[in-house]
Amino acid sequence: VNVNGKPMSCNVEPDTPLLWVLRDNFGLTGTKYGCGIARCGACTVLVDNQAVRSCVTPIEFVAGAVTTIEGSGATLQRVQQAWLDENVVQCGYCQGGQILSAVALLAARPWLTAKDVDDEIDRAMSGNLCRCGTYPRIKRAIRIAAGLQP
Ligand code: FES
Ligand code: FES
Repeated sequence: VNVNGKPMSCNVEPDTPLLWVLRDNFGLTGTKYGCGIARCGACTVLVDNQAVRSCVTPIEFVAGAVTTIEGSGATLQRVQQAWLDENVVQCGYCQGGQILSAVALLAARPWLTAKDVDDEIDRAMSGNLCRCGTYPRIKRAIRIAAGLQP
């Protein structure tokens, strides 16, 4: 599997979730386990720029390029900088998944307008829960990363 631009391999059962391959086999522990049933978004990674819940994605079905929070790329770096500028993080547990869902949104909709940005953010981020309630700062950071007023 290609992870963050590098070919990586390991020997696991084909139904092993991508989450555990990333964490246990590849040492990429920025991807977090929350619920394990695709309900919280903490384990979100990108596969070919689409947000994917890695806790319920068997490695045998991962055909595209995987990007984790440890990855690089212009959009990911822009979103991470906006997160820093807005001081979004509280405990941090959910934030890798939040950031990657935001990157997926901006990759799919690079020309978000001020008119529709809030609706698009609500739709794209609705599957990412934050127990610390950082939602207002997340929304401001995405607006900044989209080149809009916070
Ligand atoms: S751990 Fe995957 S969605 Fe919660
Ligand atoms: S920052 Fe703590 S759960 Fe989101």
